[in-house]
Amino acid sequence: MELRNLFPVAGALGAAFFLIADAGAAPSLPASLNGFVHYSTSNYGGKISDKYVQKTSIQALQSGKTLPYGTAVVGIEYRDQNGKRGPVLRYIIMEKVRNGGKDYPASVRNGDWEFASFTPARALITNDPVTRCLACHKSQAQSDYLFGLNEMKSYKLK
Ligand code: HEC
Repeated sequence: MELRNLFPVAGALGAAFFLIADAGAAPSLPASLNGFVHYSTSNYGGKISDKYVQKTSIQALQSGKTLPYGTAVVGIEYRDQNGKRGPVLRYIIMEKVRNGGKDYPASVRNGDWEFASFTPARALITNDPVTRCLACHKSQAQSDYLFGLNEMKSYKLK
């Protein structure tokens, strides 16, 4: 599927959004996935979920560093229609923000990561509390709060 159809707005804006995200504020959905790589797809619960992260973040990771501030992991969830991607159901994002996470109690905080989800029309979802995201991803504290860190490490960059 052509990404441009999903992220129709011109590219350069996307990167800027990451830089202006306030600590504690919900991350914005990037306007474009230029500069991102599609490193993973999962398929369960009637959904196909494609995961994207910036190429530069994978490069940092693969050179032995931790994921840098500004890293945004974006998921696009589609309805699974007999193994094919149907309509978009939801967008999800985790963004590593300098001084992020500090508004959350230690019991749920995921380091500096901030979480958000969006409707197919790209509106922020407010009735699914972020604390639910945090509670589940907390189990991955040893892998930078990501379920797919190993997939990023082993992804073969072109
Ligand atoms: C009940 C557990 C659970 C909850 C709640 C949850 N996630 Fe996840 N999340 C997962 C699992 C398992 C994966 C890996 C499988 C996949 O990619 O679908 C994942 C993957 C992700 C990824 C890809 C990065 C990674 O960790 O590999 C992002 C981004 C993400 N979730 C964001 C969110 C957001 C935003 C919310 C809240 C709106 C949320 N998640 C709520 C379990 C959860």
